[in-house]
Amino acid sequence: MTTPVPAIGQPLDRFDGAEKVRGLAPYAFEHPVEHPVYLFAVQSTIAVGRITAIDCSQASARPGVLAVLTHQNAPRLSTDNGELRTLQSDEVTFRGQIVGGVIAETSEIARDAAGLVRMDYEERPHNVDLRGEVPGHRERLKVPDEVLPIFPMDTSEGDVDAALASAAVRVDSRYSTPWYTHNALEPHTTIACWTGDGFTLRLSTQGVTGIQAAVAGAFRLDPSRVRVISPHVGGAFGSKVYPRADVVLAAMAARLVPGRPVKFALTRQQTFSQTGYRPPTFQRVRLGAGSDGRLVAIEHNAIEQTSKIRQFAEHSTRATPSMYAAPNRRTQQWVAELDVPTPTIMRAPGEASGMFALESAMDELAIACDLDPIELRIRNEPQVHPHFQLPFSSRNLVACLQEGARRFGWEPRDPTPRARRDGGWLIGTGVAAATYPVLRLPGSKATIRVGPDGRYLVLIAAVDIGTGTRTALTQVAADALQVDIEQVDLRLGDSTYPPAAEEGASAGITSWGAAIHEAADQLRQRLTTEHGGTVPADGLEVTADTPDNPYLKQYAMHSFGAQFAEVRVNERTGEIRVPRQLGVFACGRIVNPKTARSQLLGGMTWGLSMALHEQSVLDLRFGHVVNHDLAQYHISSNADVGAIEVHWIEEDDPYVNPMRTKGVGEIGIVGAAAAIANAVYHATGVRIRDLPITLDKLL
Ligand code: MOS
Repeated sequence: MTTPVPAIGQPLDRFDGAEKVRGLAPYAFEHPVEHPVYLFAVQSTIAVGRITAIDCSQASARPGVLAVLTHQNAPRLSTDNGELRTLQSDEVTFRGQIVGGVIAETSEIARDAAGLVRMDYEERPHNVDLRGEVPGHRERLKVPDEVLPIFPMDTSEGDVDAALASAAVRVDSRYSTPWYTHNALEPHTTIACWTGDGFTLRLSTQGVTGIQAAVAGAFRLDPSRVRVISPHVGGAFGSKVYPRADVVLAAMAARLVPGRPVKFALTRQQTFSQTGYRPPTFQRVRLGAGSDGRLVAIEHNAIEQTSKIRQFAEHSTRATPSMYAAPNRRTQQWVAELDVPTPTIMRAPGEASGMFALESAMDELAIACDLDPIELRIRNEPQVHPHFQLPFSSRNLVACLQEGARRFGWEPRDPTPRARRDGGWLIGTGVAAATYPVLRLPGSKATIRVGPDGRYLVLIAAVDIGTGTRTALTQVAADALQVDIEQVDLRLGDSTYPPAAEEGASAGITSWGAAIHEAADQLRQRLTTEHGGTVPADGLEVTADTPDNPYLKQYAMHSFGAQFAEVRVNERTGEIRVPRQLGVFACGRIVNPKTARSQLLGGMTWGLSMALHEQSVLDLRFGHVVNHDLAQYHISSNADVGAIEVHWIEEDDPYVNPMRTKGVGEIGIVGAAAAIANAVYHATGVRIRDLPITLDKLL
């Protein structure tokens, strides 16, 4: 038997790529079903108050309408998740909240009739306005009690105030990032069917197991009575990780029309209030350093918002304790509970907004110390993780910065602002660091079954959200089994397969791959002991859990990267162009160079979008996002993007997982906006600390 060529490292096309571009890989809503009905949501027109009366008579009388759902006739649910308590009371807690639904024979009738449902409200004053000042608003700010995993929300080491007071060089800057809305190409959709004793749900999600548990819990069903299927997903970016009201409403509707599949798609406008968002932040960074640039103190504070029905805390300061050596450090966060929809995770939750502030502040410190910003970061490179005091399993930030500088042509660089120009355009360059933790989510299992043809069937309820998971995970499985990739048939996206953690936190390959490795190890062991290691036995099957990482308490585990940008700013109009972005990343082994490059490229493009274009604009009078479509919510388009180069350095980290991978989904966006903001400063001498950098802020 010859040793198969390792599948990891091969730039394979996505297995479903051709089907996707031919329209043969249906998304949830497109799945052909017999005799469907259609659901359309009714949304509140006030932000806070109580529904005092409902008049469904006109809607119900509309030919083709089958039922109108409101809190008066909705099934009672069993859940303490405020996001899922849909239609459980007359209370309204944010504008656009789902307060009803219309089921009809066609989508047009459902939508039309939804507009005929009349609700009277007793309205109360609302507060949707996040403010950046801690002292004046401390009474309504809370220290969050539920946060993203792994890192403590507040950290403190040494005496930051004393160190700042005696520091030779100080930076004290305030930054803000706006409310960002996820805009997956495929909106949130569901086809829900009540089968008599349970649900079949086809929907667009990042985690079929999580949806299954949430729906089963809310409707008091055994999880085996809820089947969730999600083979193809058209983007998610965090917005499809946690179950929300839309899934519950679809399931409730299905209960009313047994046997008939209920098709439900949020409109693009509805996704702006229903699917979560990256909360706006106000951040303050204080840095103290010696005149040689060595940090003596780092302080990073953030104020964010959450809703009143479920707490979500963006962890904007999470990356800071992992970045630079300084004996005195403090991070603190507060959340304001406002009358808004609940925010959620969005690509690099925490790092994306937090590293904009920290890496802008580092640029300001470099200027204050008259040091090259790359040299400043190298001087502050820690020997061990500054907070956990553990060695890094691998840390190649300096290598990324140096490799990036070489490829980008950083040297020779005159740091003087406005020093370079081309006609009426000012030219500047900027750099920023990136990081993202290596996370392993609990709760995954993988089954491997040997088929009659000697092929290996790998089953796991993972999800491919458009990233190429199906392909990359098959590569992982082939190497775990030490067989040729043609021998492996991997199936995912169905809750009847062994449970899996969500596709999120850049932890998919780590969490699922570790389970597949465990199953493959056990399978090969059984083949050896029971079958002499010769012919795979038909029907042999092994199921294994994701094991805990034995090195978790010995090493800090992070990806790192360096982002570079060149900008051109029109001196008269303030127009900003970004002809060049370059990123160098250290993300462990790269499973599939083609799909990994796409992830990093996509992240950097979003970083450009974050720097220059995106913001959800709130109408404070009514409490909702007014630019709630793709015509008004500006996202970087092809014409905005210049040359983007993606590189990575070889990294072989034996501690992170059996694949030696670190995850590539999130880190591409981290630091990208700071690199552009730093380049804008270099070009113009104007420091923009409030994103997005629009031309009015430069003039
Ligand atoms: Mo990612 S924001 O964890 O889907």
